[in-house]
Amino acid sequence: MSEKLRLGILGGGGDSLIGVLHRVAANMFDQYKIIGGCFNPDPQENKKFAEKLGLNPNRVYDSFEILIDSEMKLPLEERMQVVSVLTPNFLHYPMAKKLLENGFNVICEKPLTTSYSEAIELEELQKKNNTAFAVTYTYTGYPIVRQMKDMIKNGVIGKIQKVDMQYYQGWINPIIHDKSQRNSVWRLDPKKAGISSCIGDIGTHAYHMLEYLTDMKVKEVLADLNHLYDDNELDIDGTVLIRFSNHSKGVIRASQIATGEENNLTVAIYGDKGGFRWEQENPNYLYYLTNDKPLQVLKPGNPYLSEFSLQDTKLPAGHPEGIFDSMGNIYNGVARKIKGIKNFDGGFPTLEEGVRGMKFIEKVVESNAKGNIWLNL
Ligand SMILES: NC(=O)c1ccc[n+]([C@@H]2O[C@H](COP(=O)([O-])OP(=O)(O)OC[C@H]3O[C@@H](n4cnc5c(N)ncnc54)[C@H](O)[C@@H]3O)[C@@H](O)[C@H]2O)c1
Repeated sequence: MSEKLRLGILGGGGDSLIGVLHRVAANMFDQYKIIGGCFNPDPQENKKFAEKLGLNPNRVYDSFEILIDSEMKLPLEERMQVVSVLTPNFLHYPMAKKLLENGFNVICEKPLTTSYSEAIELEELQKKNNTAFAVTYTYTGYPIVRQMKDMIKNGVIGKIQKVDMQYYQGWINPIIHDKSQRNSVWRLDPKKAGISSCIGDIGTHAYHMLEYLTDMKVKEVLADLNHLYDDNELDIDGTVLIRFSNHSKGVIRASQIATGEENNLTVAIYGDKGGFRWEQENPNYLYYLTNDKPLQVLKPGNPYLSEFSLQDTKLPAGHPEGIFDSMGNIYNGVARKIKGIKNFDGGFPTLEEGVRGMKFIEKVVESNAKGNIWLNL
């Protein structure tokens, strides 16, 4: 199959944060053509935005239900093949469910749903058809992150003994101290965000990245979450102790009130032979630490990197890769799966990984609510 995949988009309108990232990613490898969608619940805004994108108005719909019903009436060779779900969290489940029931491939933003039970339901539905379903834990698409994954798999840093994942942002700080503002943001509204703000929005990235990189499953969590005002009890900060086993432990630290921080996801993983440090805000540098040699810095696009890391590199070394490339690589992974092209394990984050992310959020919130106790994951 060589022609472009027909892509539809739900959410991600002109007023959104994440829409542009997905549109650029979809176009990056010439694998997709955006043919329509429902970008905004306001029909006028929806049409206006679609016009700006130059889309055929017949493929721009007033709701996701109308989109799916109308697309299903089209012949298979015209119908959207993949639909991206880029709305606030509470809409992921109904949208993904109807898409799965009708056999579409899906690319869905994280967190997958607002509850673990909804996530399980989606997993059951997907088992019935052989479609692709990606959950966009965006940062796993960086070439140098893929390199770190491969080196850990190949035993370069040995047996993992300590992990420290940090995801610090400060954007809620100016909002949280103003009562009307804190009650108008969807990420702080449990009906739209789910049971967690900080852990659901960013802690889940750090957790997923940890399991993605190590190929290990976190066994137990103990959480201490924080909120600043009793009229808004969703967590905006939290520390989660984690155990892989009795002798392999660590911490996930996440905050939306780390004043002045932007998008500071930092990974530190230490084994008995070496360690890695990586920072999302400087994503082209992978720091490789050992006891007996000077610090090494690995950079994307170099011939010493793994096949998986190099697979989606587009320009020679020295041309920095960024967040758009990272998401582009995930879209490319999904295209490979749909087109039956060789794909590496980890080429895109799967539905199962999204389900596990929901379990993590629920267990962390439960641990905190029950007085900071250890819970099995
Ligand atoms: N992967 C990442 O790194 C990352 C980063 C940011 C956001 N996200 C996720 O992306 C999702 C969207 O976040 P955002 O920051 O872009 O939100 P946003 O509020 O900026 O944008 C949401 C968009 O959805 C549209 N929308 C709302 N209701 C709709 C409906 N019923 N039908 C169609 N469109 C509708 C809005 O008009 C808007 O365009 C969230 O789930 C969030 O967690 C992921």
